[in-house]
Amino acid sequence: MNTTPPAERRPQRIAVLPGDGIGRDVTAEAVKVLSAAAERWGLPIELIEKPWSADHFLETGETLPEGAIEELRDDYSAVFIGAYGDPRVPDMRHAADILLGIRFKLDLFINFRPIKIYDDSLCPLKGKGADDVDFVVFRENTEGAYVGVGGNFKYGTADEVAVQEEIHTRKGVERIVRAAFDYAFRHGNLRVCMADKSNVMRYGHDLWMRTFEEISVEYPDIEASHLFVDALAMQMVRKPEQFDVIVTNNMFGDILTDLGAALQGGLGVAASANLHPGRTSMFEPVHGSAPKYAGTGRANPMAAILTAALLLDNLGHQEASNELERQVARCIQNGITTVDLGGDRSTSQIGDHIAERLLAPVGT
Ligand code: NAD
Ligand code: IPM
Ligand code: MN
Repeated sequence: MNTTPPAERRPQRIAVLPGDGIGRDVTAEAVKVLSAAAERWGLPIELIEKPWSADHFLETGETLPEGAIEELRDDYSAVFIGAYGDPRVPDMRHAADILLGIRFKLDLFINFRPIKIYDDSLCPLKGKGADDVDFVVFRENTEGAYVGVGGNFKYGTADEVAVQEEIHTRKGVERIVRAAFDYAFRHGNLRVCMADKSNVMRYGHDLWMRTFEEISVEYPDIEASHLFVDALAMQMVRKPEQFDVIVTNNMFGDILTDLGAALQGGLGVAASANLHPGRTSMFEPVHGSAPKYAGTGRANPMAAILTAALLLDNLGHQEASNELERQVARCIQNGITTVDLGGDRSTSQIGDHIAERLLAPVGT
């Protein structure tokens, strides 16, 4: 998406955190493809795997080691994550420290999630296809319902009270709204739609409404619109072609991008980037660790490979990034897919195939 690349660092070190469940399976394929891309284009990237996961937490009691965030910030150009979530850690403590920890502590305020169809056959909507479902979601990524502010009173009793706060700041809302408008501007004045629930959330979401209105005035050539999130969810299914850029808060962005994934063919093809322009950013597929599929060869690695393409773009390797995306599209169009997309290939067969194609002599 042409964000400012992190300060030039040669070599560009990429921390690879496979995480849990199918996160490990799909990361192995993304690494295979990134390594092939590095070979083909002579990219100065260096992939360094980190063990931080549920297994590591259960073995050592450690989620992230002391100084890990600073190390990622100062010594790495990007972070690649597979997925987090393991039934043996039901409170997701490790994911809170690692996944949310990286988003929050690296201040990656943009969760950029493209909703794009690589072949009409993947669209579940009657009469719609790739031309109709093609938009991006700018999900606020550092505040909202994710701040973990709240508590319990009379915990575990019949009189229990639980309070969970949402936090929205003027600065936080302004920077994500501005990022969405800037993206729309750079891409030829795309339409921007903001989704909230300001009819009910009269404080926090009203702040979103007022901020959005103010900022939209600075972009007179951009068509700015607003929908309550329930209406937006309905419109995403009914008439997705009306959207170019959707900007919304953290929780709504989480929910809407699973719906978006369904529109583009499933979680197996949904990629995402957690960005702070100019700083070390983090890249992860939208899907989770799908524990029941871990190690079975059923996980689709395309979301992870498309996520690797976003990472390469962020590091300034546009040609390699475009080619990864093109190879995924080509696989889908030729029926070379895992079972979720109707094919019969395994996770590693998809990764092998794309890596081989990247290294094949031009024209073959
Ligand atoms: P999930 O995304 O892991 O899986 C939901 C379903 O989607 C799967 O059962 C499967 O049918 C399908 N699916 C997902 N990814 C796929 C892939 N690559 N290929 C083929 N099919 C795929 O969501 P869940 O089951 O709600 O959550 C499982 C765990 O993952 C939980 O612990 C959850 O908290 C966590 N999670 C983590 C992340 C993340 O790390 N970014 C995202 C979502 C969920
Ligand atoms: C996502 C996931 C995460 C989120 C979870 C695992 C914390 O659902 O990246 O979409 O809610 O942000
Ligand atoms: Mn999610």
